[in-house]
Amino acid sequence: MSTTSPTPSPALSTRKKVTTRTFRQKKQRGELITMLTAYDYMTAQVVDQAGIDCILVGDSLGMVVLGYANTLPVTMEDMLHHCKAVARGAHMPLLIGDMPFMSYQVSVEEAVRNAGRFLQEAGMEAVKLEGGRERADAVRQIVAAGIPVMGHIGLTPQSVSQLGGFVPQGKTAAAAKRLVEDALILQDAGCFSIVLESVPAQLAELISKQLEVPTIGIGAGIGCDGQVLVIHDLLGLFDRFVPKFAKQYRKLHDAFVEALEEFKTEVEAQAFPAVEHSIFMDEAEWQALLAALKESGVHVEGTDPEGQSRISRI
Ligand code: KIV
Repeated sequence: MSTTSPTPSPALSTRKKVTTRTFRQKKQRGELITMLTAYDYMTAQVVDQAGIDCILVGDSLGMVVLGYANTLPVTMEDMLHHCKAVARGAHMPLLIGDMPFMSYQVSVEEAVRNAGRFLQEAGMEAVKLEGGRERADAVRQIVAAGIPVMGHIGLTPQSVSQLGGFVPQGKTAAAAKRLVEDALILQDAGCFSIVLESVPAQLAELISKQLEVPTIGIGAGIGCDGQVLVIHDLLGLFDRFVPKFAKQYRKLHDAFVEALEEFKTEVEAQAFPAVEHSIFMDEAEWQALLAALKESGVHVEGTDPEGQSRISRI
């Protein structure tokens, strides 16, 4: 396995780096934005190769990678660790680090300092944080520090205890109006884009039309300026539950288990490793070893009278 960082293939090198400017331009041109989560080097490479516009290192990592019941236990150190791996694997997509619970809620100063760590230490190019009007000051100050911010309203998983579960938001006229206002406040505060999670499709379309900055939907219908999915949902890797709004493009969890069962069966039947997966000594070196061992009184099991080992004759 090569230990050097792979250089992008020619097809990739003709692609242009996606920036927050690209987001704005895509909305202006009516082109849809694609975004996926990734949490490690290999997945980031694949997402990049597929030409996806943006990678979110989401705090969903707490659930799909770290096995927590929700995103609340995820720490800054968890996030930075995974962001660094993603930054090593992906070059063309815009890279966004998700600010974890309690990294931006205590004070605006802490929010700015933690946002800065995503860019300074972890190779991210923007941050995302959850919340509406109550986050406007933090957004303003982070943006003032030169850090692009993506907003996130609707179902905000870090407020799962307050929301009473992972339930759709904005279904009443009053709640929907509040979300429209929040979206406009976040735009005014400087967000370059806003995630709309688990809100009615008509509302998401209305908000998307009201805003100049692009909206990225997840469980928000077709009227958003782009779509995001958690990659484990898309690939069918996470089998604990499948959110209603997630489409499983593959069922890799099953394929994963099948492959591992095949491995187990082959190992137990001595069908793996086969000759092509094994390395052998030159016959002369092998014979020299056997002779040397014999001379020093070591008895070698599994050798026949010609000195051939069982393995080398398979
Ligand atoms: O953490 C995450 O993956 C997210 C997306 C679902 C938007 O916030």
